[in-house]
Amino acid sequence: MTGSTLQRSAAGHDMAEPWWRGAVGYEIYVRSFADSNGDGVGDLAGITSRLDYLSWLGVDAVWLTPFYPSPGHDHGYDVSDYCAVSPRHGSLEDFDTLVREAHRRGLRVMVDIVPNHTSIEHQWFASARNRPEGPDRDRYLWADPASDGGPPNNWRSHFGGPAWTFDEASGQYWCHLFLPEQPDLNWRNPAVREDFDSILRWWTDRGVDGFRVDVAHGLVKDARLRDNPQIAPITEGMDPFDAFDAFEHRHDMDQSENVEVFRRWSRVCAPRQAMLLGEVNAPWPDRMSRYVEPGALDQVFFLRTAFLGWAPETLLTMVRSMHDAAPQQISWVLSNHDRSRPVTRFGGGESGLQRSLAVTTLFMALGGTPFLFQGEELALPDGVLRAGLHDPVSVRNEGAIHGRDGCRTPMPWDSSAHNGFSTGDPWIDSEFRPPEHTVDGQRDDPDAAVHRYRSLLAVRRRHPDMWRAPLQWIETADPRVAALRRGSIAVVANLSDRRARVPLGSPGWQPVFESRAGSSLDNREHEAISVPAESTVVLATDQ
Ligand code: GLC
Repeated sequence: MTGSTLQRSAAGHDMAEPWWRGAVGYEIYVRSFADSNGDGVGDLAGITSRLDYLSWLGVDAVWLTPFYPSPGHDHGYDVSDYCAVSPRHGSLEDFDTLVREAHRRGLRVMVDIVPNHTSIEHQWFASARNRPEGPDRDRYLWADPASDGGPPNNWRSHFGGPAWTFDEASGQYWCHLFLPEQPDLNWRNPAVREDFDSILRWWTDRGVDGFRVDVAHGLVKDARLRDNPQIAPITEGMDPFDAFDAFEHRHDMDQSENVEVFRRWSRVCAPRQAMLLGEVNAPWPDRMSRYVEPGALDQVFFLRTAFLGWAPETLLTMVRSMHDAAPQQISWVLSNHDRSRPVTRFGGGESGLQRSLAVTTLFMALGGTPFLFQGEELALPDGVLRAGLHDPVSVRNEGAIHGRDGCRTPMPWDSSAHNGFSTGDPWIDSEFRPPEHTVDGQRDDPDAAVHRYRSLLAVRRRHPDMWRAPLQWIETADPRVAALRRGSIAVVANLSDRRARVPLGSPGWQPVFESRAGSSLDNREHEAISVPAESTVVLATDQ
């Protein structure tokens, strides 16, 4: 137990509410955030040394990507021990220090839990493989070959090829929705359920405030391992993600029993006030909202907005339907460590920044917990690699597809060697970022992205109606313009390519945040707001 207490919670926050109501989260990709010992890999002590920056920025919680012992086939998402720290990233003592120092600053700490699969090097898998008759065999999904000797069914790995690998010794295949080195656990086995209850307890006892649940939609598989219906042909050299999407994932993902697992987890986590936040990739909005029924997960990430290029109408339609299906249970994101950065996806440069900030401003006025991905507040474009590929998706598919390395390059702190990330050679070799893309460079420039994101977070903190008051959509003439009112706050997101005028229905409004300067109130009655193209304005009224 760290025994530390929190000194701060979101303004306007009622202590009877869970801590994440009104909070803003920040994803730290641990490998690439800050390296304290010069070995080129980010670590926990590095994160601790940068907590003052996160406090200054104004986020309320950090989510740390996996830092557990792992052979690293999927950069930590292949865990070989769930209750330890990889020496690559530090020690348990470093973890305790990080939690204590974060709590001292009022920051919550969430860790990533990876329950769909373990590493091939986890002792459970070693025992399951070496002793087919032993008690650990059934912790994983094994199946006999099909009649032609091939894989037992047509399930695919997200990362390319079949979701099954043959084990010569036992003559059976093991299942893996990701790499062969990430064997899927059998969530129908009570021993697996019990072990994860203990893992959740172990980390909450150490002071963590919540869990990001990796591949939460994947846990339970069809008991009969039936084939998935194929809905599109698979062609030679096809992108593995497209090949995965050539099937309706009726039997390998999003089984109803997943929610039972999270009800069980909630019984462990709710009394400890630990948030359960799922990475759920399921048909939406109905299937997504099932995961956040009372007593299951607290929130789910809505990841579709992190996949999109600049498509304002699609984006706003998605956001509105997902919001309306689960008004307070969506964690809104434009990016994470698996996706191209939004500035790049939205056209690059100043335009990419304007568009990203316009959407994020809208997210700040929706009910759930929005998350920024490290560097998003600097409006970073994707990093450019100088050499090598690291993402197993690119390596395994001979670089034929756009992998995930571009969003995983080091956080640029300053203009010293390796942008201040490490004194040694970083694990990933990417181009130097110019001073205007670094934390230090931006802190000296009041117009820089970091100050705009920081002001936005401050406005959300100052106006709890932005996340708490009941939301009413204001209908607009253009589907690329969304407007809403919540209590004393109104928000107009004009994602169209021209100025938009939206009536507010009552006088007395004042802009409190503009993602791009230049909005103007109707000068007669202050009843309408005119908003520049591709920008969002937040208004407050005292009426
Ligand atoms: C999640 C992670 C991703 C990882 C995969 C397999 O989608 O975000 O990085 O590769 O799960 O664990």
